[in-house]
Amino acid sequence: MTNQASIYERAHECAEAIRKSVPELPKTAVVLGSGLGKLVEDYPDRLAIPYADLPHFPKPTVEGHAGNMVFVATPKVRAIFLQGRFHYYEGHELESVTFPIRVLQCLGVKTLILTAATGGIRPSHYPGMLVCLSDHINMLGVNPLRGPYDSKLGIRFPDMTSVYCSKLQSLAHDEAHRQRLPLAAGVYACLPGPSYETPSEIRMLRTLGADVVGMSTVPEAIVARHAGMDVLGFALVTNAAAGISENPISHEEVLEAGKEATPKLGKLIDGVIRRLDSSE
Ligand code: HPA
Repeated sequence: MTNQASIYERAHECAEAIRKSVPELPKTAVVLGSGLGKLVEDYPDRLAIPYADLPHFPKPTVEGHAGNMVFVATPKVRAIFLQGRFHYYEGHELESVTFPIRVLQCLGVKTLILTAATGGIRPSHYPGMLVCLSDHINMLGVNPLRGPYDSKLGIRFPDMTSVYCSKLQSLAHDEAHRQRLPLAAGVYACLPGPSYETPSEIRMLRTLGADVVGMSTVPEAIVARHAGMDVLGFALVTNAAAGISENPISHEEVLEAGKEATPKLGKLIDGVIRRLDSSE
């Protein structure tokens, strides 16, 4: 372990390998959550690099996560899409979970859009609803920034007052309104999984101020803020959280709801990126 290259060195090496294949790199990136991977396939001009071909990238294991870094370059939309992410519940350390974000940092990405399948805790956050994240609660019991301090990655004690950029939230709500797409606002609670929550845990999360619950997003958001990126988060409510409805929760249901909602989330993200590029 002692001789292992630092996170920065590994991310930098990975970024350099990417630069060789992609000369012009976008400043915006999107992480696609469970069941949402197909969102990128609507773009005609794209180059996909399998994670397996990227130096130091962890190996994805979970169903519904393809594992490609996809570069989209249309006249109006230029972005890097991460098709598939790494989860803590798979056994990955948070350093691996957030490694792709460090690579994006080394590639010069300035805006990160995170997407995730979630359980809805409030009745207003019903299955099929899209939620723009206003804040999060880290219930993992660990922080992705724990470890030796490396000033090349960011400061030691980063502020997390505004993890989700308020300007980007306003832009997202405005764009959703323009598209006549219902978009709620909400707080995301991140639990380790892989078991879904008990009804008592969901009641606790509701008391704590959470609106949606999931098993991802938060480590990536923390690292992206640490890296100085502007972060926007979209949660798709794929199911009512445990105890909110009588029905048991299944991964198949989550993936299916993800697939169903992919076109509308895709259109919203596309609209946001178009407006981002034109305001840059
Ligand atoms: N709980 C946690 N993670 C999830 C859920 C849920 O109900 N649905 C989709 N991801």
